[in-house]
Amino acid sequence: MKLALISDIHGNLEALEAVVADARQCGVDHFACLGDIVGYGADPGVCLEYIKNLDCIAIIQGNHDVYAADERDLASFNPLASRATIWTREQLTVEQRSWLASLPLQALVGDDVSLVHATPGEPESWAYVRFHDEGFYAIQAQTTPLCFYGHTHIPMAFHLADGDVDQLDDGAYDLTTGERWLINVGSVGQPRDGDWRAAWSLLDLDARRLDLRRVEYDLVTCQQKIVAAGLPPRLAERLAQGR
Ligand SMILES: [Fe+2]
Repeated sequence: MKLALISDIHGNLEALEAVVADARQCGVDHFACLGDIVGYGADPGVCLEYIKNLDCIAIIQGNHDVYAADERDLASFNPLASRATIWTREQLTVEQRSWLASLPLQALVGDDVSLVHATPGEPESWAYVRFHDEGFYAIQAQTTPLCFYGHTHIPMAFHLADGDVDQLDDGAYDLTTGERWLINVGSVGQPRDGDWRAAWSLLDLDARRLDLRRVEYDLVTCQQKIVAAGLPPRLAERLAQGR
C-alpha cells in the first residue's frame, strides 16, 4: 500500500491541489492528513471540505484546527497566528468547526504505524520536535516502530538503532533499518525549511520506504488571496521565502 502523508495545509488550496495531483501521479492508494488543515491561509473552508472528501484513512487534529473550532483564548499564539485564527473562525460554518473539534489527536495504521500532529506520547501538549534532544525523548514515547508527525513544518527524521538516535534530513529513508523511525512529513501549505515548494511524503508500506516530495504550486494566486482577504500581508510574503 502506498500512502500520501500530508500535513499543515493551513488553508492553502493551491498547494493542496498541487500535492494531491502529484500524489495521484505517484499512484497512492490513500491519503492520511496529520492536521492543521486551517489557519494562516485564505481558503480554510474549501480546504476542509477538500480533505473531508479525499480518500483519507485518517485525519488528525492539529493545534490550529482545535483553536479555530472553538472560542478558546489565543494567548499562546503569536500575533500573526492569533489574527489568522480569529479570521478563520469567522469563515467556517458551525458544522465545519464542530467537525474540526471532533478529530482525533492520533491514529494507528495497522500494527506498526502511528500518526500524530505534534509529538507522540503527549500530542495534546503541542510540543515541538525539531532538535536532537526533542527527537530523542519523543521517539522513546512512541508505541509503534514507525511514527509520522507534522507541526514544525520542517521535514526531518529521527532514527533509533542500538540505543542511539540519529537525526537525518535526507528526505529518503529505508525503514527496514533500526528499531524505530519518527519522521516529520513536511508542510503542504506553509513550509519553513527555506524551500517554498509544497511538501508531502510518500510512504510505501510494502517496500518499507519513505520519500519526501516537493511540488511547485500557484504561489502568486495564493498570495493574492491572502492579501485580498485582509489577512496580514506577512502571511503572503513568508510563503515565497519558505519561512
Ligand atoms: Fe501547522
